[in-house]
Amino acid sequence: MASSKKAQKPEEKAKGGKNSCLKTWATRIVVLLLFVATFGWLDTIKQRWYVFDPTSLHELAQEAIAVSGPNDTAGMIQHIVKNLTATYPSTQIRLNTDSKEWVFNNAGGAMGAMYIIHASITEYLIIFGTPLGTEGHTGLHTADDYFNILVGEQWAFLPGSLEKEVYRPGSVHFLPRFTAKQYKMHEGCFALEYARGWIPLMLPFGFADTISSTLDLPTFYKTSVVTGREMIKNLLIGKI
Ligand SMILES: *[C@@H]1O[C@H](CO)[C@@H](O)[C@H](O)[C@H]1NC(C)=O
Ligand SMILES: *[C@@H]1O[C@H](CO)[C@@H](O)[C@H](O)[C@H]1NC(C)=O
Repeated sequence: MASSKKAQKPEEKAKGGKNSCLKTWATRIVVLLLFVATFGWLDTIKQRWYVFDPTSLHELAQEAIAVSGPNDTAGMIQHIVKNLTATYPSTQIRLNTDSKEWVFNNAGGAMGAMYIIHASITEYLIIFGTPLGTEGHTGLHTADDYFNILVGEQWAFLPGSLEKEVYRPGSVHFLPRFTAKQYKMHEGCFALEYARGWIPLMLPFGFADTISSTLDLPTFYKTSVVTGREMIKNLLIGKI
């Protein structure tokens, strides 16, 4: 066998090489198509894993403002977390009730801090904001984003519009997936941010500024630990 293979003419050898190269590429294309089809299918059924809904979160944000008064950010956060833990059983969804667990968040040129209330593969719920104000790019995401203003104002604009959009406490700034805006939290602003869609695909944007600019490794570490811990704890109870 070995000797007969050795006896192959050079042009036959070249033909064999071409065939195996074609086979490799055919396999790669089939795998790629399967991958695209699987994700396309998952994308059509992802809503079955959603637990929160934007309307009741918006009502909850408004209720938190009404109950706590317009300046009591901490009171609003307490109210929100208390309501969520009373509403959703811990067997259905894992919530992080440690409202002292804040981390810096640098993304799209903007800077603030966040407290992750919930993170899973298809949803996240955080308190995001800064008492100083910040400005940047929203990011182009694979998730719909509902930004419920609790305190302060958020301004936004899309290229082409010559006037700014203004979002005040009790209102929600909805940013559909694959849309980007410039935004500004004019002076201090805090919001209850709910995102639904493919959360892991948002993480590179969430980490890019830290890796390429701030080099704040403790923040990078803490954010990864908290996000990973919450996602895994949700997966363990079957919350995708
Ligand atoms: C939670 O908040 C929602 C929206 O404001 C409200 O309808 C619901 O009754 C609250 N649930 C609890 C347990 O407080
Ligand atoms: C909230 O804070 C603003 C600015 O400090 C102040 O003008 C306003 O009176 C405060 N409102 C309440 C209800 O405490």
